[in-house]
Amino acid sequence: MARVPFIAGNWKMNGDPTQAKILCAALVARSKDWPSVSGEKVAVALFPPFVSLATAAETLKGTDIILGAQNMHEAQSGAFTGEVSAPMLLTAGCRMVILGHSERRQYFGETDAAVNRKVLTALEVGLHPIVCVGETLEEREADRTEEIVGRQLAGGLKGLSEDLMQTVTIAYEPVWAIGTGKVATIQQAGEVHRFIRQWMADTLSRDVAEAVRIQYGGSVKPDNAEGLLADPDIDGALVGGASLDADQFDGIIRAVKP
Ligand code: PGA
Repeated sequence: MARVPFIAGNWKMNGDPTQAKILCAALVARSKDWPSVSGEKVAVALFPPFVSLATAAETLKGTDIILGAQNMHEAQSGAFTGEVSAPMLLTAGCRMVILGHSERRQYFGETDAAVNRKVLTALEVGLHPIVCVGETLEEREADRTEEIVGRQLAGGLKGLSEDLMQTVTIAYEPVWAIGTGKVATIQQAGEVHRFIRQWMADTLSRDVAEAVRIQYGGSVKPDNAEGLLADPDIDGALVGGASLDADQFDGIIRAVKP
């Protein structure tokens, strides 16, 4: 079965409720003729900051655009001042959550074990995670990309059954390509995507490996999206900067070829 391409917009710490309403409405207006692949419409999700989720949920109501959050706490409730739980995200209208983004790993000390606890909690309450993996420039130059990505997959996805794994999306985001304008070449990205798919085939099963969508992330723009998305193992994009502009994000979605 063909994997339906999946384009996601990670707004990061941008987009207050007023801006969220404008951006969501602009995308809803453009969504009518977004491309389909094998009869199924390209999947699109938006990940605004917590404070803008309610406005975004309201503006996206009745559309196919999926709402998600950028992070969550591993516990379902409790004395964790300043944190937000998975059940809260569900009631706020989220169906997905980004976990293990390199900025969370880099600036907030998230380990593979912490990512794993969050993944398990998200799945337990019925939120579908996008689990991010990727190497730094130093690691790539030392030829350690597969070792690092393999470790992040093994640690972050520990304990997942084949069924649960099929509800997860993986995002390969080389850290050196995020927000830098330096996009991985199609060959560089494709190689790691095939490594990830093989890892899933070896660890879980060939069926799981064929079903799970692997997005590429890192400086995806309308002008480089078409080439990346044409690779059979690149199933979509996790877009940061360009997802804050309706025309650019729309352009990336339209780069999906039917
Ligand atoms: P970017 O961010 O598109 O701005 O490089 C991607 C991401 O961090 O998800």
